[in-house]
Amino acid sequence: MGPRVLVVGSINMDLIVQCGRLPDQGETIHGDALHTAPGGKGANQAVSCSRLGASTTVVGRVGDDHFGPRLRAGLSSEGINVESMRVDPNIASGVALILLEEDGRNRIIVLPGANARMGDDDSSAATALLPNADVVLMPLEVPLPVVKAVAAAARACGVRSVLDAAPVSPEAAAAGLPALVDIISPNQTEAEDLTGLPVHDLDSARAAARRLVEMGARDVVIKLGEQGSYWLGEHGEHHAPAFAVQPVDTTAAGDAFTGCLAVSLAEGMPMPDAMRRANAAGALACLKLGAQPSMPTAAAVEAFLRESSPRHDA
Ligand code: RIB
Repeated sequence: MGPRVLVVGSINMDLIVQCGRLPDQGETIHGDALHTAPGGKGANQAVSCSRLGASTTVVGRVGDDHFGPRLRAGLSSEGINVESMRVDPNIASGVALILLEEDGRNRIIVLPGANARMGDDDSSAATALLPNADVVLMPLEVPLPVVKAVAAAARACGVRSVLDAAPVSPEAAAAGLPALVDIISPNQTEAEDLTGLPVHDLDSARAAARRLVEMGARDVVIKLGEQGSYWLGEHGEHHAPAFAVQPVDTTAAGDAFTGCLAVSLAEGMPMPDAMRRANAAGALACLKLGAQPSMPTAAAVEAFLRESSPRHDA
């Protein structure tokens, strides 16, 4: 049996507009295609964990609109336990508007909908599930008090907590999050927002990670995109170079990374190996359109690792 993962986080329907370029202010342009795909950082990470073989449970909320049942059924069809997911009446499900450029880069606007209604009931539900979890994963797309309460409960019962620090609001940056969790994993801009330091290369990532450790973090894993990932923690540091791919859609590459990192560590893998595997999962997620559709299986990650070498220039 794989590790047991609890995900407390957001569930969205992604509306993806493929366009050759982004419009300038006040400009109207034609898009190329519209797609819908299930997303939301919490749900994406849950799908990532489940496809990697983890026994996965989600705590989150959708609305009672036409997206809600589709999102719930989609997660259930992935083998994810959705019994603690709530369908909230009289509110829309979370929706993300994603502008996807030809080079695979995106810009995302999230309308939180039911995700913003998460509260004490959800943190209590998550806390009750913690004794049956090896690791709890939380992104920041749900109200901060929920994240803080679950992180505190996880620490109290000795369950490893992983915070995907996305998206960082000023409120989240000021909330002392690094000290509340076992592993904090921001990307470059999130590391900048959390520390106030610029992050553009390995040296600046190391400086930001040191600052996060000074702020109370135990293990910091910074996602550096084409420069791979960098870890600084109680037991060492490591840079894992990225794998070069031609991206179709970079949406949720970070979710694939975080899900794979959490599962690999829970399986007992040392951090450097877990980072290499998570870089591979992130690279694979860039090769397909859509967030949840692009989360790789364990077999796909292993095949990619056998066939690919990391970049040498990063
Ligand atoms: O991390 C990617 C996700 O961010 C998308 O699926 C979108 O829903 C937003 O939450």
